[in-house]
Amino acid sequence: MHDTVQQLGPWFHNLHLPDGSQTAPGHGLGDFPNNKWLQIEPHLPSDLSGWTVLDIGCNAGFYSVELARRGAEVTAIDHDPRYLRQARWAAGQFGMEDRIQFRQMQIYDLAHTPETYDLVWFMGVLYHLRYPMLGLDIVARKARRMMVFQTMTAPGDEVIEPPADMDLGGRGRMNEPGWPAMAFIERRLANDPTNWWAPNHACVEAMLRSCGWQPTSRPAHEIYLCEPKSIADEGIGELLEAEYLAATGQSEIASSNSHENPRCATD
Ligand SMILES: C[S@@+](CC[C@H](N)C(=O)[O-])C[C@H]1O[C@@H](n2cnc3c(N)ncnc32)[C@H](O)[C@@H]1O
Repeated sequence: MHDTVQQLGPWFHNLHLPDGSQTAPGHGLGDFPNNKWLQIEPHLPSDLSGWTVLDIGCNAGFYSVELARRGAEVTAIDHDPRYLRQARWAAGQFGMEDRIQFRQMQIYDLAHTPETYDLVWFMGVLYHLRYPMLGLDIVARKARRMMVFQTMTAPGDEVIEPPADMDLGGRGRMNEPGWPAMAFIERRLANDPTNWWAPNHACVEAMLRSCGWQPTSRPAHEIYLCEPKSIADEGIGELLEAEYLAATGQSEIASSNSHENPRCATD
């Protein structure tokens, strides 16, 4: 087993394998993600039989395995084949391979799949996305009951109630603590060139609401439980839908072009 763990590494998830060994015992975040799971699991139904779960950015499958152990049928996606190799192997070690379906996919590909899920598990991915609001919009169309969401954040827990409207001259308020704000990382954070964004707490909640999620509780720092809600569209619902369809390649123009260029459909 030790050789296989070595061959499949490096590991981001520290899995406690059935033989007592661990995949990443010296993890910089401690016993990760077991330490996160212990904060979240009291907020989940202890029996997830009959629930379907979508684990986005499943990595080595720690959460997929735990959710499957609770009885859920899990679909786990990741864009990185190295992590999916780890996850498939780990699911087998824990005897959960029949309950978890792994797919190599981008989060954006979910816009082109018909399935919806009782629970969407969306942890540790948002800040890696070039298009974070598009990611949230796509995911909002996938969940029936709840989402467990986590993101790296910028410091600051303050929240100010944004005004219903304001003059252009009032933009100084945007520099006040508690204004929803997301820092852009042009270069690197923690030596990872795919860390693009760090929203503050107010921004996380505002983006969630804007994309059709109601944050219901915050079991720990940077972790949000959410329920789907309808978006208060302020009369721009059609505009939002048109933008969503264009951004996900489903607009009329995209469809007519793929019709005229059948190669696109078969490439
Ligand atoms: C920081 S890890 C988080 C892993 C796990 N969800 C957790 O919370 O421990 C980010 C994971 O998301 C995956 N990922 C990043 N961008 C993605 C994308 N656009 N589509 C699908 N997966 C993505 C990475 O390959 C990686 O496994």
